[in-house]
Amino acid sequence: MSKQPTVILLLLIAAVAQETAKCVTAAQDLPDNFPKCKRDENFDKCLVDAVNQAIQLLKSGNKELGIPPLEPLTVKKLVIDAGNAPINLRQALKNVKVHDMISTSKIQRYRTDLDKHLIICDSKTDRIEMIGDYEMSGRILLLPITGHGKANITLVNTKIEHRLIGEPFEKDGVKYMRLKEYRVAMDPKRVYLHFENLFNDKTLSEGMNRFLNENWETVFNELKVGYSKSFGLVFRELSNKIFEKVPFDNIFLS
Ligand SMILES: *[C@@H]1O[C@H](CO)[C@@H](O)[C@H](O)[C@H]1NC(C)=O
Repeated sequence: MSKQPTVILLLLIAAVAQETAKCVTAAQDLPDNFPKCKRDENFDKCLVDAVNQAIQLLKSGNKELGIPPLEPLTVKKLVIDAGNAPINLRQALKNVKVHDMISTSKIQRYRTDLDKHLIICDSKTDRIEMIGDYEMSGRILLLPITGHGKANITLVNTKIEHRLIGEPFEKDGVKYMRLKEYRVAMDPKRVYLHFENLFNDKTLSEGMNRFLNENWETVFNELKVGYSKSFGLVFRELSNKIFEKVPFDNIFLS
């Protein structure tokens, strides 16, 4: 009878040990079907095709790397505080699904300086369709605006510059790189905005939506810092799921 507590204690220790072992996961490798690039004079060119291929392979997610399905991409919350005249606005988008972004993105050019852990790339995305629940209040072009409901913000032919700023770290004597910052600069050819139920009034809402779309460039200029910051955070988190698990030399071959 006195033996039982010992058995339970041993089981507990075993369970705890197993949990700990799960946390201290061994170094991972990139999925087998990912192309890899050697750090030679063709590196930046090689990376363009490799990463374009990798992104399409990751579209449906990857369990080992802990990457969720990316098409559509889920963004819990996106908050914009635009304090500059002529727009003074607070906008929150919740439960956002970003459609078509991953499928229609193509990286066009890389400029890397791995000694400085710096990766810059330009991409083009045909379509970014953000659908979510919005809440907004403030002023746009001197006009007061308030409302809540469904929002659809769609960006067409968007050039994006990505600036990945990394820092090295070591795990079990092996070098890894994690991203400290992921800066995004977006430049769309056209933005379509639709906010359902502005002012809680159908006629006013239609008028305001027409006005926003006629002035999409001015409106989007005020919103884009907020959108870019939010996408930067999402992209950093996703990239670090790979960078923090796969050693530097397994990603970028020497
Ligand atoms: C969102 O807006 C775009 C551009 O107007 C449109 O093509 C698309 O069908 C809309 N999506 C939804 C779900 O309403």
